[in-house]
Amino acid sequence: MEKNEEWYFDAKGKRIDGRSQFEHRPINLKVGVIERADGSAYVEWGQNKAVAAVYGPREMLPKHMADPNKASIRYFYRMAPFSVPDRKNPKPGRREIEISKVSAEALSRAAELEQFPNTAIDVFVTILDANAGTRITALLAASLALADAGIPMKDLVAGIAVGKAGGKVVSDLNKHEEDAPDAVDLPIAMGPNTDEVVLMQMDGPLTEKEFHEILDVARKSCQEIKDMQMEVLKQKYKEDFNGDLK
Ligand code: CDP
Repeated sequence: MEKNEEWYFDAKGKRIDGRSQFEHRPINLKVGVIERADGSAYVEWGQNKAVAAVYGPREMLPKHMADPNKASIRYFYRMAPFSVPDRKNPKPGRREIEISKVSAEALSRAAELEQFPNTAIDVFVTILDANAGTRITALLAASLALADAGIPMKDLVAGIAVGKAGGKVVSDLNKHEEDAPDAVDLPIAMGPNTDEVVLMQMDGPLTEKEFHEILDVARKSCQEIKDMQMEVLKQKYKEDFNGDLK
């Protein structure tokens, strides 16, 4: 891609990275990547790379933060300093704190927290490489890591950012598209079994028609992604129970 290139669809309707309008970037999932953690996962989504580690349920410290009715998810989304073209200051910024807050809320809808009163479930997600869509990449990894930690869940959390660039609705915007003058980015995460939207953010105007189109595209992608998540979890359990137990 040339610098300052400002087209979003070629004559055949293909995007700058060769994808069609509703095609997401390739997704690769892996679970059980960090031995020390109770559960862990690694997700590649196009250029995005996220690694998630879950610790808990464990005693909530400080104690006054404990919820006597359920476990509390503490989510730490962080971007590695080398994950973006301009060095990211390692100190968590407002963006990371916001993403951590909404992602903890999203996961809290999926996990059965009532089973573990007074405890904390700590979810650490580090972005190693970024090219738009990292909060969703992180959330997929976190959801897999929670399941890998054996925490009972009503649902997995699957997600995708759908939005608008170059005048059209597009699925899974890359950085070039996110920087389009008319860009709207709408990260959505769902519990695909319950059909519940657990995270939705929006950074620009859309018509009602566009909004519904985006929801439909996101819902289909979330189902597809959930199937991939289930597959990789089943694969891990198969391997664990085929004589590979430590
Ligand atoms: O990553 P996501 O789309 O969920 O969040 P965003 O705030 O919309 O950020 C979009 C993209 O901007 C990130 O994925 C990075 O590629 C880039 N970015 C950056 O280059 N430097 C930062 N400090 C933050 C984001």
